[in-house]
Amino acid sequence: MQTIFDTIKKVAIKIDHAIKTEDLGYSDSENSSGEDQLKLDVKSDYIIEEAFQDISIVKALVSEEKEGILALHEEGNYTICYDPLDGSSLADVNLSVGSIFGIYEGELKGENLVASAYVVYGPRIELVLAVKDEKPQHYRAQDGLFNFISEITLDEKGKLNAPGGTQQNWADSHKTFVDGLFAEGYRLRYSGGMVPDLHQILLKGGGIFSYPGTTDKPNGKLRQLFEVIPFAFIYEQAGGQAINNKGMRLMELVPAHPHDTSPCFFGSNYEVAALKTAYGIKN
Ligand code: AHG
Ligand code: MN
Ligand code: MN
Repeated sequence: MQTIFDTIKKVAIKIDHAIKTEDLGYSDSENSSGEDQLKLDVKSDYIIEEAFQDISIVKALVSEEKEGILALHEEGNYTICYDPLDGSSLADVNLSVGSIFGIYEGELKGENLVASAYVVYGPRIELVLAVKDEKPQHYRAQDGLFNFISEITLDEKGKLNAPGGTQQNWADSHKTFVDGLFAEGYRLRYSGGMVPDLHQILLKGGGIFSYPGTTDKPNGKLRQLFEVIPFAFIYEQAGGQAINNKGMRLMELVPAHPHDTSPCFFGSNYEVAALKTAYGIKN
């Protein structure tokens, strides 16, 4: 796994440079989710594919920016599912963006995730790495090297509320839940970038990020393999919870297609319990 993490560190430095120096415009293509691709999406995807293609333990790659599975090494153990540039549409307004990596062994489903990582490209480049049975580890880059900062632990109850999705398309129960937290004094912290939004809650002691099913996107917007499950792993390892609108652990998701999405809620225990009550979830 260390080889994979070291490669992610190298990729992070290269993508950060690309964000700071390359064209922020749109390419003339779409990804598998029907979203217009930025030149930076395509470039970031290329940087990652090039970095992993000669690593023999990597069996295959699945990218947000490509339709299918890219086979690399038959004898490899790990399939890396990644979002090369999450929140990429924020780059041209100079907000933080990120990369997300889910490392799977065997069939591509939540319970086969063995590690995950994300990079935040902000005022500094920051990295979080997570493996089983350990707290997530937070690193910050300085002169191209990543220095360990601390382990990440979520408080039982936080102060931040990151409500995603178009509000007019929320179910009434979700609106009641979100407004209830604000009535308790929670602060709105939502940039539209999943990586910085979830990173902030992890580092500021807790709260909840929600991207529910909506009338326009009944299965939510965020992709299971390379957005939802990797963060669910990190939130659970940090002592929080990550569930869908039925109360199912997101780590139990089994996507039928590499780009399947899921309603998703990531947070501290108090806020997830409040969500379950609002959604009438008993367990
Ligand atoms: P991506 O840029 O990889 O397509 O991801 C964007 C996602 C995610 O970063 C964020 O949480 C979500 O889009 C925001 O969606 P809304 O603008 O609908 O809130
Ligand atoms: Mn994304
Ligand atoms: Mn993306």
